[in-house]
Order: sequence, then structure tokens, then C-alpha cells
Amino acid sequence: MSSSLILPEIKVPAHPVWPQKSAAEKQAQKQRIKDLLQQQNAVLVAHYYVDGDLQALAEETGGCVADSLEMARYGTTTDASTLIVCGVRFMGETAKILNPEKTVLMPDLAATCSLDEGCPADQFSDFCDLHPDHTVVVYANTSAAVKARADWMVTSGIALPIVKHLASEGKKILWAPDKHLGHYVQKITGTEMTFWPGSCVVHEEFKSVALERLRKLHPDAAVLVHPESPDEIVEQADVIGSTTALIKAVAEMPQEEFIVATDDGIFWKMQQVAPQKKLISAPTAGEGATCESCAHCPWMAMNALDNLEALLNTHSNEIRIDENIRADALKPIQRMLDFAADHNISGKYQK
Ligand code: 13P
Ligand code: SF4
Repeated sequence: MSSSLILPEIKVPAHPVWPQKSAAEKQAQKQRIKDLLQQQNAVLVAHYYVDGDLQALAEETGGCVADSLEMARYGTTTDASTLIVCGVRFMGETAKILNPEKTVLMPDLAATCSLDEGCPADQFSDFCDLHPDHTVVVYANTSAAVKARADWMVTSGIALPIVKHLASEGKKILWAPDKHLGHYVQKITGTEMTFWPGSCVVHEEFKSVALERLRKLHPDAAVLVHPESPDEIVEQADVIGSTTALIKAVAEMPQEEFIVATDDGIFWKMQQVAPQKKLISAPTAGEGATCESCAHCPWMAMNALDNLEALLNTHSNEIRIDENIRADALKPIQRMLDFAADHNISGKYQK
């Protein structure tokens, strides 16, 4: 069935170019943002892929830097009345779904995700109708309306245990939207799964033959792969996992060199936890060739100090979700968070 779906063409934007700043200018801007955050009882919730300055600022101001599982959970634990989500749109929407009483703002509401864009809610609903005997499991990287049609939401950090749990109950799974993560989960769990044919434009760019060559040049390096990558990249991995799992691998594995197949925004945290280790980006098609993202998500790159400061001055870019959709989307997200709490699964690297 999935092969007959005609999905929307994904328009991948160019990476935004932000003005260069001296260290002193940056420091002054960071201080202004810190003051505004405090005055407005606002907190930063940042993903590991956003600019290192934003990750540092989130940490310095008592906010959160984490993967999408912990970003979802964190908003429910803070007293701040405003959550500023530095990441992509589905992360802001998840924060709002879980915290309707809080104001949720994002530096740029156009920061989306190819997985989300490639899974329109109306087509997805038709797809679900064709498989009424399946349990619907959607990845976090989807719109609120798609989540509203799901039984469970998962992130890469919790997909395997949740699918294993559902398989133990004899469930057949309808999985959307990331086919690569879905294939990986199916391979490990052996579960009967039907896939939506979506993918991440960033992880799709990793090239398997070039990775084989790179591994030969660095025979002692461990290969770390996010499971949104194509099967032939996943097959070459020493570690496959969520952003948190990959950061943990750099911190705790004995190797001195790592080849990393995920968005290179993660290098900031990896270098923070293991400054002496060498990180090498897994090869993509390369700048100026056919590569659209070059190991950096163009939508994550829409988050910067400049539009964060502007946001705090204007209070624009608020996430709003229809209440009926929100109430339905809450159920699969809450199921995931309850499962994470029961099984002690975290989405943040802690030494
Ligand atoms: P994580 O949940 O592993 O951080 O992944 C989110 C994501 O969008 C990766 O591309
Ligand atoms: Fe979406 Fe890929 Fe960007 Fe993650 S890296 S937000 S999956 S487009």
C-alpha cells in the first residue's frame, strides 16, 4: 500500500546565514537574553542539533539541552510559565500539547522537519483507515494532527522498548513516518510492521561507499549512527541510537576517534563531554554537489541568538493548537512518557 502513496514534495530551504559577531558582542547579547528570560519567567528547551551558543545559553540559564524525549518531558517539570523551544516545530507542538497552560514560543515557526512535512494528516488518516487492526505508532517528528490519530508516540530513544512491549502483546504495528527507523526497529524486534514511506533529508545524505572508505582510513574509529539513517549506513555502525545514546558513546567508549552519522550540531555536546576525542562527520555528497543538508538540518539552523533575542522582545511566534486535536494528541504522548517513567528511560546524557 505504502508504494501507492503520493507524498508532497519537500522543499528544503538553504541554510540561513547569521551575522558574524565578535566574542564581546556575543557575550553582551547573551547577557541581554539572560535578563529577558529571567524577567519573563521563561526557560530555554534546546535540542542537541541547534547552534552551540544556544545550547550553552540553555545550560547557563537552568534550561534543558536534550533529545526529543527529554525535551518533551522537561516542559512538564519546570515552573517557568514560558517555554522557548529551540529546535523544530514538532518539538514546540509537543511542549504545547503537554503544557496547554504555558506559553510556548519558538525562534522561527517555519523550522519544520522533512518527516513532519512528508506525512500530511489527511493522507495519514486514510492510511490508518486501511489498517484498522494495527496499533498506530508515530515518531515524535509529526504534526499534532498526526499524533491525534495515533495510539503511541515514540522517539528514537524509546522506540525499541515500546515496540517490543507492543509485540509481546501480539500487536501488529502501523509505523510512521520514518521508514529507516522503522526498518531498524523491525529488524531488532522482529515485529510485524507496516510502514509510511517517509525519511529525514539530513540522514538520507550519508553515503555508504564513502563511509566504507572513511572507515578504512580510520580503522580504530567507532562508527556512531542515528537510526534515521538508511539501512546501508546503519549496517556499518558500532553504535546505533538516539542523540543521547550517541553522546554517551563518545563519553564512555574507549576509542579516541568517532565517525558520526547524524547532524553535526551534536558535536558541541560531544566535545563538551569528551574534549580530547576526535569527531569526524560521516561523508555526505558534499557542499556544492547534490547534498541539500550536508549533515546539518536546515530547519534546526533557523534557531540563533538573533531571532531568540527578537522573540523575547516581541513575544511573537507562539505555538497554538486546536483544543480537540491537542486533547487527542496528548494520549499517545502521555503513554510514551508514562512508559519512560515506568522503565526509567531518560533522554539526556548524564555522567
Ligand atoms: P533524537 O530524539 O534522537 O534527539 O532525534 C530527533 C531528531 O529529529 C533527529 O533527527
Ligand atoms: Fe527532521 Fe531530519 Fe531535521 Fe531531525 S534532522 S529535525 S529528522 S529533518
